[in-house]
Amino acid sequence: HKLLLINGVNLNLLGKREPEIYGHTTLVDIEKRLIARAAEYGIELICIQSNHEGQLVDEIQHYGLLANATEQVDAIIINPAAFTHTSVALRDALLATQKPFIEVHLSNVHAREPFRHHSYLSNVAVGVICGLGHLGYQMALTYWLDNLYSVDM
Ligand code: DQA
Repeated sequence: HKLLLINGVNLNLLGKREPEIYGHTTLVDIEKRLIARAAEYGIELICIQSNHEGQLVDEIQHYGLLANATEQVDAIIINPAAFTHTSVALRDALLATQKPFIEVHLSNVHAREPFRHHSYLSNVAVGVICGLGHLGYQMALTYWLDNLYSVDM
């Protein structure tokens, strides 16, 4: 079993980038923790981060649709970062895969600038988690563990 974690533009800077908004935890720390937790249940978590929209589209197409059935993921956790508010392409790529996904944001985007209030993904996501910092990713993983693999929490 496989899951895909995708982080978008500027999230390679987590820990250094506006820590009062995005926290002090680095992306490597977040990914390590989630990989370890998934592995406890025999599930492989594939982690991708890119600052390039087209690269993210390629990865979503690959792991969601084009790879052999055994290489494909069952579901996705995605923080598209600024692409959330701009990218029809990421929305279309996710829809093309027909894989369920959860949208995560570290900050509460609804409490911030108006341009962060709209997401191109939210109305096609299974769920949206925002404002809970890095724990939001853990909660998204917990949801997939329970919902897809019936792991006892
Ligand atoms: C973000 C929120 C976005 O508005 C912003 O552009 C980001 C990070 C978050 O995780 O809070 O880069 O997705």
